[in-house]
This record gives sequence, structure tokens and C-alpha cells, in this order.
Amino acid sequence: MKRIAINTGGGDAPGLNAVIRAVALSALSRGWEVLGIRRGYQGLLDDDPNALIHLDRNAVRGIVHVGGTILGTTNRNDPFNYPVEIDGQKVPTDRSDHVVQRFREHGIEALVALGGDGSMRIARSLLARGLPRVIGVPKTIDNDLRGTSVTFGFATAVETTTEALDRLHSTAQSHQRVIVVEVMGRHAGWIALHAGIAGGADVILIPEIPYDLERVYDKIRQRYQQRSEFAIVVVAEGATEAGHDATYKLGKNAFKEHAVLGGIAERLARQIEAATGCESRSVVLGHLQRGGSPIGLDRLLAQRMGCAAVRFLAQTDQSGMLAEIGGQIRLLPLDDVVGGIRNVDLHGDTVCTGRDLGICFGDEAAGIFSELPASERRASNGASHSQPAL
Ligand code: F6P
Repeated sequence: MKRIAINTGGGDAPGLNAVIRAVALSALSRGWEVLGIRRGYQGLLDDDPNALIHLDRNAVRGIVHVGGTILGTTNRNDPFNYPVEIDGQKVPTDRSDHVVQRFREHGIEALVALGGDGSMRIARSLLARGLPRVIGVPKTIDNDLRGTSVTFGFATAVETTTEALDRLHSTAQSHQRVIVVEVMGRHAGWIALHAGIAGGADVILIPEIPYDLERVYDKIRQRYQQRSEFAIVVVAEGATEAGHDATYKLGKNAFKEHAVLGGIAERLARQIEAATGCESRSVVLGHLQRGGSPIGLDRLLAQRMGCAAVRFLAQTDQSGMLAEIGGQIRLLPLDDVVGGIRNVDLHGDTVCTGRDLGICFGDEAAGIFSELPASERRASNGASHSQPAL
């Protein structure tokens, strides 16, 4: 291996720079050359003469704690669906061969692709088109990538959200208000669940549990009757009322893989106020959850991933996506991770914890599901190796 490239695609997440630095340092120490590609694949597609940056030691100095990505990123401009202007109209066009060609011209032997499900899908398709090797590094604050137990950026997003909930508690309590806080996560409820429990929410609504508004109203009425005259409702942007669709603020277009979710918190606040008479406000945390310095946990995970990417390149001839499994970093085939998301486990101990604490998830009464399913209770009898998570 003489020359490798690295890029960052999709929404940014705290820890990207820590991965870039780890890849660069461990590759440079093996005598390899490292090129950073600007803005996903866009620099290459635009034939930008500055598309590639030499990542020497100086280029990656002092960035381990810095949020965002020094390479830039985009969650548009998929090379297989690239907007090319034809007769004054932007037309989706497959320009993947151009990307593969540019890799060949620059003698790049492998790509370390930092990204989410969309980036892994693109990486897999580019491999099929002739890119020599790809090591995907899973990244998203949403924590919803298949195969890995956790993605870097998630812990920082949970920390930021928890801190916001702490601040909202005092103002909600002072004004005897309901505050509905909308958090990111797309169609998975990881941020809402983890930050909601850590931040002492009264109601947590996640996409995995379609909610019944009456349950939410009951919980809020109950709090006010018990003289706890305020409430914090955490709602994942992708949560849905049972029988309804998710709430979008922007539709999907030909050049963006995902429609933009948003608006559910304000709608809920209005519904809660109308039904319960409790004054309600909404807060959308939005991109605050993606910005800023990664916390220690994410810096560590990011650097473990970056160094593991280079070790897999050095010691194997495989492509795939890195995954954290049981405390180890492993390489999974891209086919195993592309084409679906990892949702919250409704029988996992985190949801059980929320129910046991009396948090309302918008479905049954608190505590009712904290019992183990009958099948697991039977499996655990006397069989220490198959003990379920309690
Ligand atoms: O996937 C990360 C994420 O932050 C989601 O949680 C959110 O729905 C989306 O990206 C927002 O995307 P954009 O940066 O296009 O607003």
C-alpha cells in the first residue's frame, strides 16, 4: 500500500476529525501517503484542482477535539445520481465512472470512507465499478447503522441534548409549562431515548413506538394533579402518532436521498395545550446536536476506528465496514450493513429502564412492559450462558 484516500460524507458528526487524524498518523507511520478528498466525492466530480489535500502531520495537527470535518462534507451529490446541467435543467446522472477514473489517475489504492448508510451504499457501488478497496467507518449521531453497536458522534449528541434538557427543566418548572423538545435521529429513537432518560424526561416519543395522544395527555394531567406542575416531553423528529405518517418540513428531491423531518414538537405542543389546558412550548434542538467538540468517549471510539481502518488495510486484502462489536472493532461485509437501519430494541434494558422509571412512551401505562417476555423468562431458567439482559 503506497497511497490511500479518505473522505467524509453525509451529515457531520463530532469525531470526524479525530478519525481523519488517526488514519493519517497510522498510515504515515507505515510510510504511506494519505490524500483527503474534499466534500465527499464532489471535489473529484467537479474536477476541482484542489479536490485532494495531502494529509501530512501538519495538516492533521491539533484537530482531535475539533467538531465538524476539515475535509468538508455533503449529504447531496451522490455520484450515481449527480446533478448535471442539461438544457438549463439539473438532471440526475450516473458519474461514478468518473470518480473511479480519478482514483486510477491519482494511483489511489484504497479509500477510507467515513459516513452513514448512504455513504456505505455509495462505497459498495463504487467497489462494484472498479474502486480497488474501501474501508467504511460508520458515522452518525443517529446511531442507527446496522452491524455496529455504536457510532461515534452519538455520545456527544446525547450529552448536548441532556444538557439542553437540564436547562429546559428550570424554565418549565418556573412557568408551570410543558416543554416539548424535538431531537434528531431520523427514523430511529436512540438520541431521544438515551438523552430523555439521562435528562429526566416525563414523556419520550420514539419512531419505534407509534404513540397514542391520549396516553401523553394522561401523563401530563397526572403530573399536574400530583402538584408537579410542569413536564418535559422529548420527541424524536421521526416519531409518529399511531396510524399517521411522520412530520416532514421538506420533501425528498432527485438529489437528496432523504426528505427533511421536522415540525412534530410544535404540533404536539399545540395538541397538548388544547387537550389539557397546560401552557406548552416547543423547542427544536436541530443542528446543535451535530456541532461542537466530541466528548472523550467519541474521541476514543473515533481514533480506535481510524487506526483499525489502517490495520485492516495493512493486514488483509478485504473491503467492508468497521463495526464495534462486544468491545472489539471488526470488519463486516458492506452487504451486511447497507439497506436498512438499526432501531431501538423495545425489549432492551434501556426501554425497560424508562418504563420502570415511570416515563410515558405514549403506549401502555408505565411499567407494564418491564417484565421479560415469557420466552426469555423460560430461556433464563438455570441456563447461565443464556441470561437475558435485565
Ligand atoms: O443523519 C443525521 C441527521 O442529523 C439527522 O438526525 C437529521 O434528520 C438530518 O441529518 C438532518 O439533515 P440536514 O443536515 O440535511 O438538515
